[in-house]
Amino acid sequence: MTKSGSVAINKTCLVTGAAGFIGSHLARRLLENSCRVIGVDCFTDYYDPQIKERNVSGLLEHPSFELIRKDLVEIDHGWFEKVEWVFHQAAQAGVRASWGEEFAHYTRHNVLGTQRLLEWARHSRVERFVYASSSSVYGETGKLPMHEDDLPRPLSPYGVTKLAAEHLCNLYQRNFAVPAVSLRYFTVYGPDQRPDMAFHRFIRAVLRGEEVIVYGSGEQTRDFTFVDDIVEANLAAARAEKAAGRVYNIGGGSRISVNGVLEILERLTGREIRSRHEPVQAGDPPHTYADTTRAREELGFTPKTPLEKGLAEMIKSFCA
Ligand code: UGA
Repeated sequence: MTKSGSVAINKTCLVTGAAGFIGSHLARRLLENSCRVIGVDCFTDYYDPQIKERNVSGLLEHPSFELIRKDLVEIDHGWFEKVEWVFHQAAQAGVRASWGEEFAHYTRHNVLGTQRLLEWARHSRVERFVYASSSSVYGETGKLPMHEDDLPRPLSPYGVTKLAAEHLCNLYQRNFAVPAVSLRYFTVYGPDQRPDMAFHRFIRAVLRGEEVIVYGSGEQTRDFTFVDDIVEANLAAARAEKAAGRVYNIGGGSRISVNGVLEILERLTGREIRSRHEPVQAGDPPHTYADTTRAREELGFTPKTPLEKGLAEMIKSFCA
């Protein structure tokens, strides 16, 4: 046990994307569990890098945290010599922004960055390599819930790069025994969520008295997952002995439409929401819903945070 009562894990961990939304939550949790954390982040300007500076400001005060401000494609792997667990969260995120010229950033950070990290891992003594994959690899499966054995057919260039990196993890596991596990996250939300994502945009607009933008009819559905559950899934994947080479859905446990989310937001904020509709965005899947049976059976993972509770916590963080 640590002083705060949390379980001591005592591992040296590499968290890529440590200044991002999920990476910073995960790094904080690992430090609470007595791990040493090497964070890597290259502070791209996809959204305001000041937000990432804020995400890491608390971590930097911790004596067991070290931040390397480098791009994974160029980094000197000498920094990683003592790493036991890898949590590869770094990515060029964003489904709708991955078309056109921007695609070069997606291939560099998501495919080449992952391949370079796996090449290093292949010659290292890493005990576990957890890769942050995405529900975007599925596209439109034609049936719900989505199961890990469904044929992935991404609808966005972003999803193509996340799937390519997942395949790379699988290849390095099969050929060189890199103990890689892929977690397919389903739309993650919570305090510090990226500012381009739906909940962040909705809450910001509602609190400012501005109208929210709804893409399409608002009847598209998502399985939204609270960030603390994602952190738990990462720890479970790092610990599960037989998980190497496996792929797991990590979802929040329910499915709701964008319109349904706005109704909950109205109730939680006590404000009337004005919305403006814009066309369906290219690359957006109509529905996602995770079958999490495999994660429950093999990782012991079950999501703990219902949507309404998680949303309330997110609203509170905006007001803090
Ligand atoms: C999210 C992340 O952005 C991806 O990085 C991640 O890989 C993906 O989840 C995933 O699960 O794989 P997305 O589902 O598009 O992608 O997340 P949101 O930005 O929260 O959008 C949710 C829904 O709200 C979408 O249908 C979107 O079209 C809609 N939306 C979004 C709006 O109607 N208005 C907005 O202003 C923003």
